[in-house]
Amino acid sequence: MLGNFTYSNPTKLYFGKDSLNGLNEELPKYGKNVLLVYGSGSIKKNGIYDEVIKILKANNKEIFEDAGVMPNPTVEKLYEGWLRAKKGNVDFILAVGGGSVCDYAKAVSVSVYCEDDPWEKFFLRMEDVDNKIIPVGCVLTMAGTGSEMNGGTVITNHDSKLKIGHVFGENVFPKFSIMNPVYTFTLPKYQMTAGFFDIMSHILEQYFSGTDDNTSDYIMEGLLKSLIHSSEIAVKKPDDYEARSNIMWISTWALNTLIAKGKSTDWMVHMIGQSVGAYTDATHGMTLSAISIPYYKYIMPYGIEKFKRFAVNVWNINAEGKSDVQIANEGLACMEKWMKEIGLVMSIKELGVTEDMLDGIAKSSFILEGGYKVLNHEEIISILKESMKA
Ligand code: NZQ
Ligand code: ZN
Repeated sequence: MLGNFTYSNPTKLYFGKDSLNGLNEELPKYGKNVLLVYGSGSIKKNGIYDEVIKILKANNKEIFEDAGVMPNPTVEKLYEGWLRAKKGNVDFILAVGGGSVCDYAKAVSVSVYCEDDPWEKFFLRMEDVDNKIIPVGCVLTMAGTGSEMNGGTVITNHDSKLKIGHVFGENVFPKFSIMNPVYTFTLPKYQMTAGFFDIMSHILEQYFSGTDDNTSDYIMEGLLKSLIHSSEIAVKKPDDYEARSNIMWISTWALNTLIAKGKSTDWMVHMIGQSVGAYTDATHGMTLSAISIPYYKYIMPYGIEKFKRFAVNVWNINAEGKSDVQIANEGLACMEKWMKEIGLVMSIKELGVTEDMLDGIAKSSFILEGGYKVLNHEEIISILKESMKA
């Protein structure tokens, strides 16, 4: 049965090959001073930077740049951006990049007028924003996180070995996002496939929870099938527009809050993956791929009906004459095969995790209660150990 909920998503999307023109419609709505946020230079190499600057200038904007947002943005970078935006009297923040750049832009947007320390207030204490927010728009260059249409922002503190996500309300969602699938063509294969698995994981985190008959589960099965199909094409032919555009669109729907409405969700793979990220600074999607098979094998007996359904409806397993466990195992085996075929990392060892880190990683993993099995510390350790062996 669907639980009660409120649904609203204020982000306007411009999708397709000409979508950057949407900036001309949006920019006049905001003030003169624009903070242009981007990463470590990919947008300069592939020409997106020049295209964006041209449109900003044509709209008479004063441009302040905040470059060098690293993958897994750090608390130090947030402090730097917080002070820069304060001084610049910024009216609008334009993020041009992947999830890290979009997340960081949102973190700066809520921090500028915050009197408190933003890391402590929004991430350690998880408080809501109660100050003025600077509006954000995104030009997305990587599909995966869903940050272009949600209120999520994830910041890493390497000193305290914590990677924490705050999911803000709709007042923090990007006002608009520009989604041109062609922009994703220049992604290195490692980042591209990490993004594919991030999408897969977002869907699975919401699918493997609950036992009720829920429309979201049917939507998710469709999204998963489309993702599996298109990812197989994209790894062979990264410039296949059909595949890349489908993946970009699936990515948005996987985490723009719709499929979570009225149902319970898990998110333990993300909690453990983020903790691996805090220790290694590894690519987000790969931390999830390295945890997923050991995690799902472990929780499968507690949610056998859903794992059976996953095998039959997503992986087309023929269930005839087989036991529930056999069917469920065959589904997970198909997923593992697909993961290896598209080149995902299957072991946290490959991400730089060593035995002496396991206890700390388990301790930094926030334990959530929505999944089929609420894990304890020892169970997290044993999942990590299985991943080390893979
Ligand atoms: O720094 P630049 O030059 O931009 O290069 C990036 C970066 O090195 C590169 N890249 C992006 N687009 C490119 C490109 N290179 C060539 N061509 C392009 N078109 O790819 C690298 C990774 O980029 P990043 O933004 O870090 O990747 P992703 O989109 O996976 O974002 C990861 C961050 O998002 C958080 C993660 O934890 C991580 O910090 N997440 C955010 C979520 C949300 N907002 O809801 C949910 C997710 O679960 C996730 O936790
Ligand atoms: Zn994710």
